[in-house]
Amino acid sequence: MKEVKIETTLEIYDAIEDTSQDIQNLMKEAVKARDKAYSPYSKFDVGAAILLDNGEIISGSNQENASYPSGLCAERTAIYYAGAKYPKAKMLKMALTASSQNQLTLQPIPPCGACRQAIAEYEVKQDLPIEIYFMGAKGKVVKSKSLANLLPLVFESSVL
Ligand code: THU
Repeated sequence: MKEVKIETTLEIYDAIEDTSQDIQNLMKEAVKARDKAYSPYSKFDVGAAILLDNGEIISGSNQENASYPSGLCAERTAIYYAGAKYPKAKMLKMALTASSQNQLTLQPIPPCGACRQAIAEYEVKQDLPIEIYFMGAKGKVVKSKSLANLLPLVFESSVL
């Protein structure tokens, strides 16, 4: 038996103003998307914005459904739209923000496991890391240099 240690390094910024101008712009788009969330059941609004290598920004918000599992997270709404609209473009950066309607969300909210798997598909496909930045309603921003950094032991197509 041998033990394997898997380490993840994240960068933490005290506020969005401490990030570069392009990330501030991207986060602004994520906030705009968050404000369009359709979340009558959870009251938890999430926005995602993705910067593509063609300069376009594609954004999305969570879309819920009375049949709960039929709803979709903001990250997947955005990434599937980006993949559908610009199939050849590479995804460079993704900004995420989440805000509960019931309380002030001050901690950074990372993408859920299912969204990490969905984002991983595109990172593997394009063979280029996607930087992920996530925040709550405001406050600290966490940067991961890639999706793989957030999902060790990823399941991906090369094994099929
Ligand atoms: N949600 C997202 O949009 N992204 C995530 O990564 C986690 C959760 C949404 C799904 C649902 O509409 C609400 O947040 C509560 O789970």
